[in-house]
Amino acid sequence: MAKKTILNIMEAKNKKKLSMITAYDVTSAKIAERAEIDMILVGDSLGMTMQGNNDTNSVTLDEMIYHIKIVAKNAPNTFIVADMPFMSYEISVEQALENAGRIFRETGARSVKMEGGKNILPQIKALTNAGIPVMGHLGLTPQRAAMLGGFKAQARTAKGAKELLEEAFLLQEAGCFALVLEAVPYKVAEVITKRLSIPTISCGAGKYCDGQVLVFHDMLGLSDFTPRFVKVYANLAEQATQAIKTYIQEIEQVTFPEEKHSFTIADEEWEKFINTIDKE
Ligand code: KIV
Repeated sequence: MAKKTILNIMEAKNKKKLSMITAYDVTSAKIAERAEIDMILVGDSLGMTMQGNNDTNSVTLDEMIYHIKIVAKNAPNTFIVADMPFMSYEISVEQALENAGRIFRETGARSVKMEGGKNILPQIKALTNAGIPVMGHLGLTPQRAAMLGGFKAQARTAKGAKELLEEAFLLQEAGCFALVLEAVPYKVAEVITKRLSIPTISCGAGKYCDGQVLVFHDMLGLSDFTPRFVKVYANLAEQATQAIKTYIQEIEQVTFPEEKHSFTIADEEWEKFINTIDKE
């Protein structure tokens, strides 16, 4: 599989639907690459999936860098998008440059994702000018869940939809190469997708976007809670629990390990060994 680049992603618009999934570790990175996904997002959703928190706000830049490095190393041919965590870019352009620069230098990821609209335009312009591709993220922006009153669908009023469309254009003009639309009515996402020249990636924004993204744990049935917009393609938690239960049973019944799982010792070595210890 040839290494995917930003050009493959941008040129897919109106030609091919883009696929994206989150990954956070060796296992998820290798599985996603083996499946030939277009893009991997090392999302700050790792605060929930890997750290067991209720939101993404406590994830630090160092923690992100730790996970991004592992994913980039284990999915070398997939286009990797790395989330900038909460408060790693909001303070100033300098802060955004320094922290996105660390992600670029230290991890191998070749793009970052930032949540927000008008409020972060200077940061997006500065990063793209410095050669760091930025994926935007509008609609439900989980890092701002406290301001939004929780994890709620956005742009469900005419005013909200118009503001979203305007912000999408601003992000495109600022230099974003693609845009995640999260928890947005599908009709609004369709209008935005048709009017923008950059690809839109839906996370609960319907089928008219240029691509889709889901969280690895949600779509594979590994999460305790899955948002309404997620399709669960496998029940891996259930299967893993069953497998471990069988393992426990087989240990207790001594049906595991079998001969094929055990090592042998040559008869003459065995005799020598037994004779030695019997004489002692
Ligand atoms: O952090 C994440 O996984 C995300 C996606 C849900 C879009 O931002």
